[in-house]
Amino acid sequence: MSVPPPAHSESGLSIDVVYDESSLQGFDPKAKLGAPGEFPFTRGVYPTMYTGRPWTMRQYAGFGTAKESNERYHQLVKAGTGGLSVAFDLPTQMGYDSDEPIAHGEVGKVGVGIDSLDDMRTLFRGLPLGKVSTSMTINAPASALLLLYQLVAAEQGIMGHQLTGTIQNDVLKEYIARGTYIYPPKESLRLISDIFAYCRKEIPRWNTISISGYHMAEAGATPVQEIAFTLANAKEYVRAAIAAGLDVDDFAPRLSFFFVARTTLLEEVAKFRAARRIWARIMREEFGAKNPKSQMLRFHTQTAGVQLTAQQPEVNLVRVALQGLGAVLGGTQSLHTNSYDEAIALPTEKAARLALRTQQVIAYETDVTKTVDPFAGSYVIEAMTDDVEAATVELIQAVEDRGGAVAAIEQGFQKSEIERSAYQTALQIDHGERTVVGVNRFALDEEEPYEPLRVDPQIEIDQRERLAALRAERDNDAVGRALDELRAAASGRDNVLVPMREALRQRATVGEVSHALRDVWGVYVPRDSL
Ligand code: 3HC
Repeated sequence: MSVPPPAHSESGLSIDVVYDESSLQGFDPKAKLGAPGEFPFTRGVYPTMYTGRPWTMRQYAGFGTAKESNERYHQLVKAGTGGLSVAFDLPTQMGYDSDEPIAHGEVGKVGVGIDSLDDMRTLFRGLPLGKVSTSMTINAPASALLLLYQLVAAEQGIMGHQLTGTIQNDVLKEYIARGTYIYPPKESLRLISDIFAYCRKEIPRWNTISISGYHMAEAGATPVQEIAFTLANAKEYVRAAIAAGLDVDDFAPRLSFFFVARTTLLEEVAKFRAARRIWARIMREEFGAKNPKSQMLRFHTQTAGVQLTAQQPEVNLVRVALQGLGAVLGGTQSLHTNSYDEAIALPTEKAARLALRTQQVIAYETDVTKTVDPFAGSYVIEAMTDDVEAATVELIQAVEDRGGAVAAIEQGFQKSEIERSAYQTALQIDHGERTVVGVNRFALDEEEPYEPLRVDPQIEIDQRERLAALRAERDNDAVGRALDELRAAASGRDNVLVPMREALRQRATVGEVSHALRDVWGVYVPRDSL
């Protein structure tokens, strides 16, 4: 079915649009906005927002071994971070063990390598899992890491209903950007619906998915594309869960979102406010959600990694402060501020601390937390919110006209739209129409030397030895039987998380449970790679 590309898709909302007093005709704040904490939540999801409680300062961290990451988490908790956020290495994110050939050179590199219950125990040693909320950035193998977390908490005497946190678990955006998918879309949606059903019963305060626009933004999506493609993906998850027999109000309160914060602060504030209003209407009017918590778009924000520069890296401190301020003015629930040296290498401990201090200055030295939605009624922000909303609704419809997010992904629609925007942005920077300080203007003749943090190759060798010991010690017959149970559930309609938890308890590895599902469901092969 050929559907013409939407008019605005070239640039979404262009940042050079000028707003003035004439931009907002006959604006009635009460009718248009409602109150904070009330439908359609334009002004924020809670009545008191930060006047009641600041957002969660949740710094994404993880590298090397479980022991090293555990030490960094203790440092972050000591420095005042409110919630944990685990970065996993690529083999873990792709459902491979550290001792598989495909993992060579990647173990412990972009995050921590977790193969087994033993590693998870080390990762969270000494951390009060009944008190902290933990986010895990894991997608295709999210069920395995969630179950390992639950098993470690149970060993600490903490029950499922006491746990809170988030798994990213958003595989649709992985097909569009980033690429850490495993199974085909239909099986991925089945697994995600199984997670929704399992958490409702076993871990009811867990945020079962973090539907992400961040990675599409990092791939070049405009603000409108970022929220339109994210909300279109979210609609697909809601439809799949309802088709799996769940009632919308049984799972929707625990859906969450994840967006970027760019340096174009005003447009970002408008983007967040528009996203809340659109999602509230979709949930109430299209899916009949009655529980206000099902209509709330609660989100995490990370400052824009793609806007960090390797040139004059200290200038990134200013960018991150402005981006973080935009996320707060836009009503984020949780925030990660990037480290200034991240465009060069893994952040040093000092850079990571500075990133957290940036949030603490915004929270405790400025006065932006004293008013809920400070920009409400501003003709620039309200007009921009309306414009972003209109363009986003149109682009969501363009995805729906193609059969929904999965069908559009298989047609390559979202990917080609994002690539077009990325190309436009690159041209604007090359032609100097879009300034990047230190890069295409105000550059230094010679950059100052910078010594990046390097990953120690010994990490991979040690992890392989730990795995060999684990495989020798455990009851391999019990592991084999548990994996057969998992395959049987995957072939039928039973929830796969129950047999998966038993396999992991028997110390099956993340790779082994992922392979058991590969055996039954196969793997996703993008059309454009055939
Ligand atoms: N009034 C009343 N109650 C309030 C309140 C207020 N003003 N503020 C907070 N609360 C309550 C909330 O209701 C909640 O209670 P509940 O759990 O019983 O509902 C509690 O206080 C905690 O508040 P939030 O849920 O708002 O904050 P959290 O931090 O716990 O959760 C979230 C935020 C967005 C819902 C959650 O999903 C989350 O933490 N997401 C984080 C995702 C993340 O960190 N991702 C990292 C990705 S990194 C990546 O992808 C890779 C890299 O390459 C980019």
